[in-house]
Parts: sequence; structure tokens; C-alpha cells
Amino acid sequence: KVNGIEFAVKDLSLAEAGRHQLRLAEHEMPGLMATRREYADSKPLKGARIAGSLHMTVQTAVLIETLLELGAEVRWVSCNIFSTDDAAAAAVVVGPNGTPEKPEGTSVFAWKGETLEEYWWCTDQLFQFDGGLSPNMILDDGGDATLLVHKGVEFETAGAVPQATDEDPDEYKVVLATLRESLDKDKGRFTRIAKEIRGVTEETTTGVHRLYEFAKTGELLFPAINVNDSVTKSKFDNKYGCRHSLVDGINRGTDVLIGGKTAVICGFGDVGKGSAESLRGQGARVIVTEIDPICALQAAMEGYEVKTIEDVVEQADIFITTTGNFNIITAEHMAKMKHNAIVGNVGHFDNEIDMAGLEKVPGIKKVEIKPQVHEYTFPDGHAIIVLSEGRLLNLGNATGHPSFVMSNSFTNQTLAQIELWTKPGEYDKQVYVLPKHLDEKVARLHLDALGVKLTKLTKEQAAYIGVDVEGPYKPDHYRY
Ligand code: NAI
Repeated sequence: KVNGIEFAVKDLSLAEAGRHQLRLAEHEMPGLMATRREYADSKPLKGARIAGSLHMTVQTAVLIETLLELGAEVRWVSCNIFSTDDAAAAAVVVGPNGTPEKPEGTSVFAWKGETLEEYWWCTDQLFQFDGGLSPNMILDDGGDATLLVHKGVEFETAGAVPQATDEDPDEYKVVLATLRESLDKDKGRFTRIAKEIRGVTEETTTGVHRLYEFAKTGELLFPAINVNDSVTKSKFDNKYGCRHSLVDGINRGTDVLIGGKTAVICGFGDVGKGSAESLRGQGARVIVTEIDPICALQAAMEGYEVKTIEDVVEQADIFITTTGNFNIITAEHMAKMKHNAIVGNVGHFDNEIDMAGLEKVPGIKKVEIKPQVHEYTFPDGHAIIVLSEGRLLNLGNATGHPSFVMSNSFTNQTLAQIELWTKPGEYDKQVYVLPKHLDEKVARLHLDALGVKLTKLTKEQAAYIGVDVEGPYKPDHYRY
């Protein structure tokens, strides 16, 4: 704790470098900056204590400072062990007017290359604001902060944290250990925290999936807004963000020429669509795998071959998983790949590629080429290159999505936080999406920067298609 601010980041002296990047990012984030201006006086988030778990990047730093400007108190962690930009984290702690010796920003617990134990320790730090207060809002990406509260309440109600079994994934064992330590100190901590929380706003497909599961079984402890399914989030960040950051990660990780190579994209949802385009844009021959006939047909209509992973495992040079599902690329698949095939994932969790199975292959040899790039050599002598140890490679090997697309996502996040914070009692313990007029507002805020000139409906035209001149322009079931 320095100057009253608790933090755990790599090095505060990186703050100036981080601040320069933030300045450039602010220029590329018109939606967020307009939101700052709109709410400069009313400070709608006054009184909110936001626990944020989302990749601690430069763009996220601009989000955090927006939430602060809107009146919130904020504590932040990254939602992935490799995704922190250490300079951005330092800049947030130091703040726009502070110095490394006298930081004036806010609390961040994140650095690039955390261990799993450190990661869950950081996540636990979200829940203890100054003065013994707990947060009253969560801003989540992937649902780990939300999961910790739900599991904490579950185990407090049961009176004990269960013992881990051999089948439990390593990460879940760490979650159990983190919660055991918390419960040993205070048996009602998470139950009290859950009562304080007005709601959670969730960033990504995988986290949203977890929320709907909780809601279905009646376990959801507070209202939730699904930010991912704002059109201006998933149809932009997931798609165009990955179109930019997937090749960025592969290039920075391997510097292998992508043109002419055969690349396999597993999954053709929003992330898969952007990823396939990303590699095709570099001249790769892209093959898609899918389980959903609609998405498979879409891929075929876009001109991609659609095959199974087994069909192509021996021919392709690059394999990327984008499914949000698990065991997509198994150790047996990797054993059959070409020498120096590149294997990476952009889905939220690291179980799309069976990293645990790969580590256990008898006689396998692992060499770190550089951080987040590993060569695994099989006993037969062929090797594969695994990026970011199977975690999100666009954030582990590169710096994630660029600012402009994240401005769309984070304007939705900010509006969702305002919505839940300022309307207590109006939302049940269910999962909601933002209304379409706000989605359209987010898009509108990004048009000028691109020189887009919108056509205005005449009154007669509006009446003819049955909408208001000012929107919303589409029914809720419209799919874009
Ligand atoms: P989505 O649901 O639109 O797409 C996933 C696709 O994978 C679906 O079409 C599904 O049918 C397919 N799929 C499922 N199991 C499969 C299997 N066994 N083989 C082949 N295909 C399979 O989800 P979205 O939005 O594309 O997100 C995917 C993942 O990426 C999620 O985990 C999400 O949280 C994450 N994400 C990552 C981002 C990043 O920056 N790296 C950005 C946004 C989301």
C-alpha cells in the first residue's frame, strides 16, 4: 500500500510508458470518451464499488478511468494469467496526476505471467475494499469473479470446502484452496458480499454461458447483464477484434509466414468468423471445423472448406481453437501433426487444447523458445509449437484487440454498470441484455470517427417500415 492505494503490479516505474499508450488509446475510443463527457456532472456511478476482472490491457485502463470519472471506486484484476500489460497496470495505479512515488490512481492486482495461485489470490483481493467494505458491483470477463462469490456462498452454506479429487482440473484445486483459506478466516464472508452486490455485467460468451446456467438452476445470486450479446459487442469485438489480434499474436509469437500455409479454425461462431478472415487475409488456405450445421453452412458459403479435425490433422500448419468448448485438440491429434505445426487458442479457457494430456505424453520434451511460446517434441522427433500454453493467444502473445473495437465493448460495459447500479430493484436475479436503443447509441458514437454519414429516415419511410425516426430500427429478433 502506497499513498493509501493497495496494489500488486510488476513495476510502477512503467507508468509513464503506460500513460503515453493510454493517451493514444483514448483518441481511438470515442464511445468511452463521449460517455465520460455525457456523465461528467451527474456521476451516475457514485457509491458504486466495482470489482473488475477483465484483461488488464491499455484499453481496459481507459475503461477503468472512465468508471472512476463516473464516480465509482474500482479494484481491478486481470481475467487471464498472461493478458496483463504491465505498463497499463502501472499507469492505472499511478493515475493521470500521480507519480510512482505518490500514486493517485486505483487498486490493481495484476501482472503478466501470474501463476494460478497468484491469479486466484489477485481475484480474492477484489473483494476487500478499503475500510473493510465489500464491492457492490462486479464487472466480469469469463465469470471468474462471479464464480468465486457463488462457490464461496455455496461452501459457506454447506459449512465446508470439499476436498479436491484427482479428476478435478488443477485450476479448480487452486479455487478450492483459495476459498478454504478465506472460510477458515471468516465463515460468512462471501454470503455477506453476495448480499451487497447489485449486479454483474459480463463481457464474454463463456462467462455469459455460466450466468445462464446459474439462472436456469435458480442459483444466480444477483442480477446480470449479458454485455457480450449487445450487437455492438459480439458482432464487433469477437469478430473484428479477432480478425486483428489473432494474426498479431501468431506473428509476434512465431514470425512464421502465414501466406500459403494451411490453417484450421475450430468453430465458426463470432470469434471463428473473425479468426478465419484474419488468416485468409494473410493468404492462408483456411479450413473450418464445426458441429453446428448453420455455422458450417455459413463457412462453406464464405468459401472455406469444412472438415473434421481428424481429416486435416496431418496436413495443416496452423491450428486455432475458437469454440468455448473443451478437448477440441487432443494429445492424440497433436501427436499426428506436421513438424513445427503451430497450435493456439482464442477461446476463453485453456481446455480447448488438451494441455494436461500433452504434458503427460510419455517422453515428451518441452522447451521454452520465449515466454508464451513453447516447443513440444514428441518421442518420434517431430515437434509442435504451442502459443500461450493454450490460453488466449491474442492476449498472451500480443496485446489483445485494438482500442477502437474495445471502445464499443466497453461503452456497453459502462452503460450496463450504470443501468444495474442506478436501478436497484428493477432487475430480478436473471440475465438481461441492454435494450436495442442503447446498442444503437453505442454504434452511433463510433460513426463520426470513421467519417460515416448516416441516411436519415423520412417520417413517411419510418411509418412505412413501422419504426420511429430515431430508432430502434430493428426488432429484437433481428440477427444482423
Ligand atoms: P460462439 O458460440 O459464437 O462460437 C463458438 C462456435 O464453436 C459455435 O459456432 C459452435 O457451434 C462451435 N463449436 C462448439 N463445439 C465445437 C466443436 N467440438 N468443434 C467445432 N466447433 C465447435 O462463441 P464466440 O462468441 O465465437 O466465442 C468463442 C470463445 O471465444 C468463447 O470462449 C469466448 O468467451 C471467447 N472469446 C474470445 C475473445 C478473444 O479475444 N480471444 C473475444 C471474444 C470471445
